[in-house]
Amino acid sequence: MGLIYAVANQKGGVGKTTTTVNLAAALASLGQKILVADLDQQCNATVALGLDRATRPSTYEVLSGEVTLADAATLSGSDNLWVAPASRDLAGAAVELPQVEDPNYRLREQLGPVREIYDAVLMDCPPALGPVTVNALVAADRVIVPVQAEYLALEGLAEFRETMAAVRRDLNPGLELAGIVVTMHDERTRLAQDVERDLREHFQGDVYRNVIPRTVRLAEAPSYGIPIIDYAPASRGAGAYLALANEVQSRG
Ligand SMILES: Nc1ncnc2c1ncn2[C@@H]1O[C@H](COP(=O)(O)OP(=O)(O)OP(=O)(O)O)[C@@H](O)[C@H]1O
Ligand SMILES: [Mg+2]
Repeated sequence: MGLIYAVANQKGGVGKTTTTVNLAAALASLGQKILVADLDQQCNATVALGLDRATRPSTYEVLSGEVTLADAATLSGSDNLWVAPASRDLAGAAVELPQVEDPNYRLREQLGPVREIYDAVLMDCPPALGPVTVNALVAADRVIVPVQAEYLALEGLAEFRETMAAVRRDLNPGLELAGIVVTMHDERTRLAQDVERDLREHFQGDVYRNVIPRTVRLAEAPSYGIPIIDYAPASRGAGAYLALANEVQSRG
């Protein structure tokens, strides 16, 4: 049975999409069959995996109850790596969802047979704790939280953990933290080292051992619509996401 991961942090620009896309591609390269579900109206994961923003059905149709997540999957340019694309219509989902019955369970109810088809599903969440992210946390088994190695990195993490605790209490008791991943780490700066140390002190074993370095190659790859492992397989970024994939796989 495949595991369902939400990649989430309400803070913007911390590396959620970069981590979703490249961790998914690295897991696929290890022989797992992986589905990326893009739940963000910005469609960044969709585009980074080479799909057009106009691809339908999208996760909007999933949240609307028209199709299942399994039905929305399209093969990306990489072997073993599938995408359920986002669309700009998702902007409306935040308004429409609260009006339906049991709005928090929509995605969970519409998963279809994804656990049977895929070894893992990675859901890229928008930078908000709104209805779409709550749907992802209710549908997920585990949460991966990317945190940028920068000033105020821990800010907002407390709020995120409160939301996770509330979801666990009221909506999805099975939800677990898979791990916190330190992203955009510049090892030459004292600041990045301090942030990493603080995170490890606070969250101990919840922080993945492998850290993602800040590299230009990781920022460039999305404009070619391919993951780092295909764009620059020998790069530090590719190596970091591959190492993280091994760690995620061994933690289960
Ligand atoms: N390790 C890295 N090295 C260099 N640039 C990076 C790295 N990780 C992410 N970036 C760049 O930083 C920006 C933000 O990353 P990303 O889009 O993954 O964050 P996000 O959390 O998904 O943002 P949003 O909250 O808007 O969805 C992007 O331009 C991305 O290319
Ligand atoms: Mg994003």
